[in-house]
Amino acid sequence: MEIITTQSQRRTKTEMALANIFKLPPIPKLLLEASKILDAKTPKSKELVDVISKDQSLVTKVLSIANSPLFGLQRKVTSMDFAILVLGFSELKKIISALSVIETFKNKTDKYLDQKEFWLHSFLTGSLSEKIAEDVGFSVKGEAFLAGFLHDMGIAVIHRFFHSHFVTIYELQQNTELNLLEAETEVLGMNHAEIGSFLAENWNFPPSLCDVIKNHHNPNESTSNFLLASVIHLADFLTMHLKIGNFEPDKNLALDMEAMKNMRIHSEAEMETFISGYEEFLINQSEAIRYLN
Ligand SMILES: [Fe+2]
Ligand SMILES: [Fe+2]
Repeated sequence: MEIITTQSQRRTKTEMALANIFKLPPIPKLLLEASKILDAKTPKSKELVDVISKDQSLVTKVLSIANSPLFGLQRKVTSMDFAILVLGFSELKKIISALSVIETFKNKTDKYLDQKEFWLHSFLTGSLSEKIAEDVGFSVKGEAFLAGFLHDMGIAVIHRFFHSHFVTIYELQQNTELNLLEAETEVLGMNHAEIGSFLAENWNFPPSLCDVIKNHHNPNESTSNFLLASVIHLADFLTMHLKIGNFEPDKNLALDMEAMKNMRIHSEAEMETFISGYEEFLINQSEAIRYLN
């Protein structure tokens, strides 16, 4: 029997396995088509309606979100045209990205990973990243939701394609002092941030997005966009810190205070003031996921 002794050998084995996973899901077609339309200078409603209308379950979900208390409308939204008007293009992009990725990675909840909590954590980190980027005046707002939403995709990949390793990682965390990243590196030779970035590269996402996913736990190591990486890192930390949802694997996430200086946050006290405004936002956003699942 083959015995793998060193971490670099484990890493090589994981990289080979990743490269060979023929089941590694392709980028959701819907995400690609909708992004093309929505990223245009002047997005065309009609084209978007055509794309969304191809998928009846998507139509139902978009309508139920438009009719949800989140938008508090008096009139019932029954058509896609009206839904686009109510939600707006940027909200729709969020919904479509989230729905198509959730659909692609659907997996069973088990004792090791609660799918609902995982997607809630992803969605909240995405929404909060977008909000923080806007509040601090970064021009990265457009990318912020997707980067935040996808930041932990590596966890979904390990859970689905390396399930026995996921179990070992879980047990290592339970029985040792190792945190999530250390346990992953111990077992797979690489962590979920690196694996998520691998997937993003596979999906031909822009290099800056792949880099941000790779460095969401150590934003200052981001070579292409340490500002966005810092925003994602903070949003990730806040969703855990404010305990919105119950996402377990990353629960001991440590905040990189050095990276917070990128957002002009220099002390714990400044941090407290900064975060106090976001709890209500997160609670409201957590309502939205109910309509996505
Ligand atoms: Fe993470
Ligand atoms: Fe996370």
